[in-house]
Amino acid sequence: MRHLLSTRDLDLDTAIRLLDVAEDMADTQQREVKKLPTLRGKTVVNLFFEDSTRTRISFEAAAKRLSADVINFSAKGSSVSKGESLKDTAQTLQAMGADAVVIRHPASGAPQTLATSGWIDAGILNAGDGTHEHPTQALLDAFTIRKRVHGAGSRGKSLDGLAVTIVGDILHSRVARSNVWLLTTLGATVTLVAPPTLVPVDTRNWPVTIGYDLDDALASGPDVVMMLRIQGERMRDAFFPNSREYSRRWGLDDGRLHRLEPTTIVMHPGPMNRGLEISAAAADSPMSTVREQVTNGVSVRMAALYLLLSGDREN
Ligand code: CP
Repeated sequence: MRHLLSTRDLDLDTAIRLLDVAEDMADTQQREVKKLPTLRGKTVVNLFFEDSTRTRISFEAAAKRLSADVINFSAKGSSVSKGESLKDTAQTLQAMGADAVVIRHPASGAPQTLATSGWIDAGILNAGDGTHEHPTQALLDAFTIRKRVHGAGSRGKSLDGLAVTIVGDILHSRVARSNVWLLTTLGATVTLVAPPTLVPVDTRNWPVTIGYDLDDALASGPDVVMMLRIQGERMRDAFFPNSREYSRRWGLDDGRLHRLEPTTIVMHPGPMNRGLEISAAAADSPMSTVREQVTNGVSVRMAALYLLLSGDREN
């Protein structure tokens, strides 16, 4: 694998391979093998132009557990605030010997630009670009679902036949986009539920069913309910129902939680707006995988770095 830019690019075999390697990585963590020598001598740069807690820290932990050297770069406090371009920033990283660049950027397509511009030889991992994609989030979500459903026998398995309902601010969600492509490639059926104003126009070309009524969607008994964060910071021109109405109509509140089958998997990528899209009881219930998702994120990012930086990077 040369870069990891999008889940839309991943075929079934590559997606399963990534999840299986993540299983191997998780096994080493459970055996308390804290560090593997696999990426000794490699340098991974975390290049973050947007805030992050989970993604940045787990990429750092993943790289360190594989014995890579890690350089953390935050646009705040860097020469980006003096107007330095993405090209000059990338070439500075190239001069420092970066083997992989993990990039989060507010502009959709920024990782693709780095990967195709010729400015830098490093492998590029998309850690979230604008409203476009967040591939490692979708991979850790798929890993978490597969683990809950298949347990210790997960390796080699797809998500064939599972029904996943993704709820909320689809319009601004790179997590939703990456999950739609990956989960459907893995054989799941995906339903999106949102206020009509938070459904992107291009969903007519997506392999999904669209609904606007959360109670109807939950009554069909999905295997997985994935709640999305309301992205207030990107809401500029979108019509957003007021918070109380949103929570009443599209929030996973205590009443809706109790009507779900107890085997339903409740997910949220974080950060959560507790009391808006998800109640505290739902976020903390045994059905919730919120903390498992964070733990699994390290194994999945170890797998992505391993597949990018070891072996044949041309494939
Ligand atoms: N889920 C996610 O991307 O979280 P962060 O913004 O904290 O990285």
